[in-house]
Amino acid sequence: MADRPLTIAIDGPAAAGKGTLAKRVSQHYGLAYLDTGLLYRAVGRLAAESGVDLDDPEATGAIAARLDTADLTETGLRGREAGERASRVAVHPPVREALIAFQRSFASQPGGAVLDGRDIGTVICPDAEVKIFVTASPEVRARRRTDELNAKGRSVAYETILAEVRDRDARDAGRSAAPLRPAQDALLLDTSEMDIETAFRAACDLIDRATS
Ligand code: DC
Repeated sequence: MADRPLTIAIDGPAAAGKGTLAKRVSQHYGLAYLDTGLLYRAVGRLAAESGVDLDDPEATGAIAARLDTADLTETGLRGREAGERASRVAVHPPVREALIAFQRSFASQPGGAVLDGRDIGTVICPDAEVKIFVTASPEVRARRRTDELNAKGRSVAYETILAEVRDRDARDAGRSAAPLRPAQDALLLDTSEMDIETAFRAACDLIDRATS
């Protein structure tokens, strides 16, 4: 294990299981954890609540600049509508720029950190000791998300979720500002055929090898 604080960047598309994986990895290595999607979700939600057009770069950027950590604890941020709004405001450079300082300062805390998102390895922490790009086929991601929602009693059709997953992939990877893509030095982890336990062990293997 490295002596200096360890920064682990975990990126990947929507519903790839990054959050669950990143949280477990952070607990395993005793590192702080930031789900950066929450920042964009909070901006989207505040914009919608205050009647700001989600497609307005300057107005949503101003909201991002005023974002407070208390805004991240709001309930309802993890839902589908919040994810859709987040993906829309995340295309705007002023929004992304306003959120950089907070993410970098979190990443550089003395004890080290795990951050998950879309551009952690490419833009936020290009010098992270370990970069993992987690993915799974759109069909597998949609199936997992559908099962998760159904288990919570929210009946939703697989086809609806698959269409949402594909839309989000297209927007997150197709935008010109910090598009979703693996950093050149990212380690790829395709979890299509893995359950969460297997994916967690595979991620730890990658991290241990990269830091030994
Ligand atoms: O990871 P998530 O599903 O909570 O992210 C919601 C949206 O926020 C995602 O579709 C795109 C945006 N996002 C981003 O652009 N950059 C990040 N680092 C994290 C999220």
